[in-house]
Amino acid sequence: MGENKTDVTPLIEIKNCTMEFPGVKALADVNFTLMPGECHALVGENGAGKSTLSKCITGENRMTKGELFVKGEQIKIPSYSVRESQSRGIAIVHQEFTLMSDMNGVENIFVGRYEKKHGLIDWKALDRRAQEMLDFLQCDINLHIPVKHLRTAERQIIQLAKALLDDPSIIIFDELTAVLQEKDIENIFRIIGLLKQKGIGIVYISHRLNEVFECCDSYTVLCDGRYINSGKVKDIDNGQLVKMIIGRELANVYPPVNEDLGEVILEVKNLTAPKAFRDISLQVRAGEVVGLAGLLGAGKTELVQAIFGNHKIVSGEVLVKGKPVHCRKPFQAIRLGMGLVPDERRTLGLNMKFDIKDNTTLPSMKLFRKMGIFQDHEAESKAAYEINEKMNLAYYSLWQNVKKLSGGNQQKIVIAKWLLRDTEIFLLDEPTRGIDIGAKFEIYQLIHELTKQKKAVILVSPEMEELIGLCNRIYIMYEGAIMDVVEGERKTQEVIINNLLGVNA
Ligand SMILES: Nc1ncnc2c1ncn2[C@@H]1O[C@H](COP(=O)(O)OP(=O)(O)OP(=O)(O)O)[C@@H](O)[C@H]1O
Ligand SMILES: [Mg+2]
Repeated sequence: MGENKTDVTPLIEIKNCTMEFPGVKALADVNFTLMPGECHALVGENGAGKSTLSKCITGENRMTKGELFVKGEQIKIPSYSVRESQSRGIAIVHQEFTLMSDMNGVENIFVGRYEKKHGLIDWKALDRRAQEMLDFLQCDINLHIPVKHLRTAERQIIQLAKALLDDPSIIIFDELTAVLQEKDIENIFRIIGLLKQKGIGIVYISHRLNEVFECCDSYTVLCDGRYINSGKVKDIDNGQLVKMIIGRELANVYPPVNEDLGEVILEVKNLTAPKAFRDISLQVRAGEVVGLAGLLGAGKTELVQAIFGNHKIVSGEVLVKGKPVHCRKPFQAIRLGMGLVPDERRTLGLNMKFDIKDNTTLPSMKLFRKMGIFQDHEAESKAAYEINEKMNLAYYSLWQNVKKLSGGNQQKIVIAKWLLRDTEIFLLDEPTRGIDIGAKFEIYQLIHELTKQKKAVILVSPEMEELIGLCNRIYIMYEGAIMDVVEGERKTQEVIINNLLGVNA
């Protein structure tokens, strides 16, 4: 809204917001201001309270204390609701997926607000509007198949389209880009540019701090539910921001790559799965981190799932320490010493009905038997406690349901559970997705420790910097095939990017 710059009312103003859940003070005295046409980064470690604050704005959470003003008007907190926030022009794309997996794109975008003509749903009109929305977003997605068949990034775009439906003036992106690849993120930045031009205010939550510097105008830092600082992005650098977030400086983010490699632990020969990947051959040695790079749809997730016995293969073989193995189910892979950290932790990595302890010890229950039959609950809890402490998990009880943990803390548990077992082959599919910078650092250290203990690691990551920093070798996949393997001097962003796009360098 360039025309009236002189006296601009904030879109959102929060004063002294406190939010208490039973037993947890998630926010204490937080202030936050969002101006029209700005993209405002809301940053902080896992569990800092970013999602909680967002939900106070959308009416999903009712703040315990404090004041909320939307476009200058004070909100009556006791009666504030999601419906009211929507009618005031507030929209959110949640951190968790909220789509109905069996419904198609159009149904998901319009669910709950189908337009009717003569009492019937006017599907043609809905199709048209959905298509216009995708055209605006410049995305080509099949809107007529159940969304469960779509790729993660495509589902994310549908969530975005849904949020934009009512022409909001305030939109919250809670880790919108966590599941996206570089190419898609650029598209998001372009869309943010368009929204800003319209005077829309954006709350941008992300753990990828480079994104803050690329697309945000201002920032607010939270730490443990407390307000730390806010200001203009142009006035700070990356180091200063990291320091505000974790309260200390980070020197070398990546530990040295282990060069002392042992025998080949995992070998894949000419593995093929129709429509996913073909003729894949790779080796991982003891102490080695092998990276898998590739755009969305390159087949990386399917490949690690196949190695883990969770995706059908039609030809080729997997060998563990030279012996051919045929894992048709994950439990067989687990017996062979494999552990998988899947890319979708909420559906595949954790059982949301279970508590922290049970999720942590699930794959290693058998290790805690007394005389072979009785479950040794004490030993089990002790082991779960120790490993989660080591992971610096933010929790108050082992018997706390994992559902209410922040995203990054959930991810730590998915990793912790494999550390409890005698896992030798770690298949890590985007293990740092949605994880804050401090915890990422810890996971990098952990991967480094695994290599020192002569474990074999396959690492899938959309972040090239991460692959270059951690891997001995990087296999680059393009449309289901390996395009190239880079190591040594060829381990550079340029070579990888060219390969990702199918241009052999
Ligand atoms: N419904 C709830 N009930 C109880 N505690 C909750 C609930 N929702 C969040 N919390 C707690 O509030 C705190 C803040 O969580 P929140 O999800 O806002 O963090 P976040 O900054 O979004 O973290 P992340 O980056 O991991 O997503 C955490 O300690 C979390 O466990
Ligand atoms: Mg969150």
